[in-house]
This record gives sequence, structure tokens and C-alpha cells, in this order.
Amino acid sequence: MQAETHTSPKKIIFSGIQPSGVLTLGNYIGALRNFKLLEDAYDCIYCVVDMHAITVKQNAAELRARCLSLAAMYLAVGLDPKKSLIFCQSHVSAHAELAWILNCVTYMGELSRMTQFKEKSAKHHDNINAGLFTYPVLMAADILLYQTDLVPVGADQKQHLEITRDIAQRFNSQYGQSFVVPEAYIGKVGSRVMSLQEPTRKMSKSDPEDTYISLLDSPEVVRRKVKRAVTDSDASIRFDAEEKPGVSNLLSIISVLMDEPLESVTDSLQGEGYGGLKTRAADAIIETLAPIQAEYARIIADKATLQGILDEGAQAAARRANRTLDKVKRKVGFAPHGKA
Ligand code: TRP
Repeated sequence: MQAETHTSPKKIIFSGIQPSGVLTLGNYIGALRNFKLLEDAYDCIYCVVDMHAITVKQNAAELRARCLSLAAMYLAVGLDPKKSLIFCQSHVSAHAELAWILNCVTYMGELSRMTQFKEKSAKHHDNINAGLFTYPVLMAADILLYQTDLVPVGADQKQHLEITRDIAQRFNSQYGQSFVVPEAYIGKVGSRVMSLQEPTRKMSKSDPEDTYISLLDSPEVVRRKVKRAVTDSDASIRFDAEEKPGVSNLLSIISVLMDEPLESVTDSLQGEGYGGLKTRAADAIIETLAPIQAEYARIIADKATLQGILDEGAQAAARRANRTLDKVKRKVGFAPHGKA
């Protein structure tokens, strides 16, 4: 059997972020910043996964605003819509259609083993809907529609990528080669940003406000939150994620944002005390966010241009996605219809 190939000379990368809350410094360091770094070497597809967002209750007006806001943030961090495909998932109906077909080759058993489903259904016990259960199938559809080679995933999404691979392989063996089986993209040691208040936990927008930095926080707010960040009582500045998670978190934020090795950051802060460490961390964050926030303000103020970019992105995405979808429909035995 001939392996599925695509004509693009570059490897295809797909990633998506849910428009389900403010974006944090964790999203920037863990995802958005890398999206930009991948843009030239890969054929990148970056999606606003709004259909995933409604697996938990959303306010419609807020969701609508957050979709545009997230798209604006993609552009504000420097993604170029001429290079990367940027669009909203719900604008390309192929995602929902392929998800249905893939649902029919996915087992209840494997979906019920998903840790994220177990966690989310514990958290939203009043709304354990079928969409929450089949969430990974929609994610598989996102990825497989574009014959994606690589998916940049954090630890929390590894299991979803695994099931995507299983679904792809199963479909390919039942119906004949149809999908590239994607792999995880493991970037250069991407540091995980931890909560400012509980530095052994990942920074998360669903935790209280003072635990995370929003990408839209003003300099004053950044300073206040960093100043209040939990450290320890040992007063020595060194990286030790086990013993000194709070201090280590601040050190690695500075290191990543200033693009300076951890050792040299640590060396340069000797004798500065935790006050100095926090000032340096806040400076690094503020300096990073300033140009992003300025770009964001410019982009979000011009809704017509933003909408135009998303419309074009959706059209281009649909053309690509439909090639896969049409083939899949043929393979599963749907009768051809009039469309050329
Ligand atoms: N489930 C991902 C998350 O919550 C978002 C997502 C949806 C995604 N579809 C995707 C990520 C496809 C990568 C590829 O983070």
C-alpha cells in the first residue's frame, strides 16, 4: 500500500487553541511564541477551536468576542496570514463532518479512558455532555483533515494525539490509506510556566486571577502579581524545580523571555535578593508584552480587516480540508453527488 503523501514541500503542522478564556503567559511561552518560531520552516495551520470550546458552557456574546480576540492575538504575536493558515474551526464545516465519520471508528472504551474527559466531567458534573466525551474525535478530525505531519503538544494533550494516531491507523487499515499518521512535535525544551501562587501547578486561566499573567495585563498589574508571587524562605537564587519551585519558575520565565541561558540569568542575580529577582521577572514580562499589546490593540480596533483575514483563512482551509473529506466520503461508501 502506498503511503499517503501530500504535495507540500514543507512538513505540515497543525495546532489549535480554545477561545475559552484569557490567554496567559503560559499560553505565550508554551504555544504562541513557538507558533511564530515554526512559521518559516513548516506549513503551519493555526486554528481557533471554537467548536471545542462549547463542550463546556459558554456565554454566546463572550465566546464570539473571544474568538476574534484569540485570532487577533495570533496576529499580534507576529503570525503572518500569508505564511500560516489562520481560521476559526466553525467556519470550515469539514471539521464537523469528518468528526462524525471518525466517531464511527472510535470506541466508547478508548474515549472513556481519556484523562481530560474524566477531569472535565468531574469538574462540570452538571454538564457531562456527549461533546465532552467525543472531544478527542473532533480534535482528530482537525488534525487529520490537513494531512498533518506534526502536532506541537503539551503534556496534557499527548493522550489526545495518541488516540488521533490510533483513529488514523484504524481508518487507514479499514478503508485504505487516507490519512497521514501525525507525530508529536517536541520543540526545544519548552519550559512550562507555573502558577504564581502554587508554583507546582501549571499556570492556568481557570485558576484565580492572581495566579496567572494575562497577555493583556497592564505593566502595573504585572508588577503587582509578580511581586506577590510565592517564593520560599531560603533566600538563595538558584534553579531547583523540586525544592524551589517559585524561584525556579521566575528564573525560567526570565530565561525564556530574554533568550538568555538559565545559568547566566542565575549568576547575574546573585546578591539581588528575591526583590531583585521579581523586578527582573516583571521587567522581562512587561518588555515582552508591550509590543504584543500594541499590535493587539491595533488589530482588534480594525474588525473589518480581521474578519477579512479570517474569511480568507477559512476559504483556504476549506479547500484543503475538503480534499481529504471528499476522499474519505468516497472510501466509506457515500454515494457521489452532483458537485464536480
Ligand atoms: N485540545 C486542545 C487543547 O485544549 C486544543 C485543540 C483542538 C488542538 N484541536 C487541536 C490542539 C488540534 C492541537 C491540534 O489544548
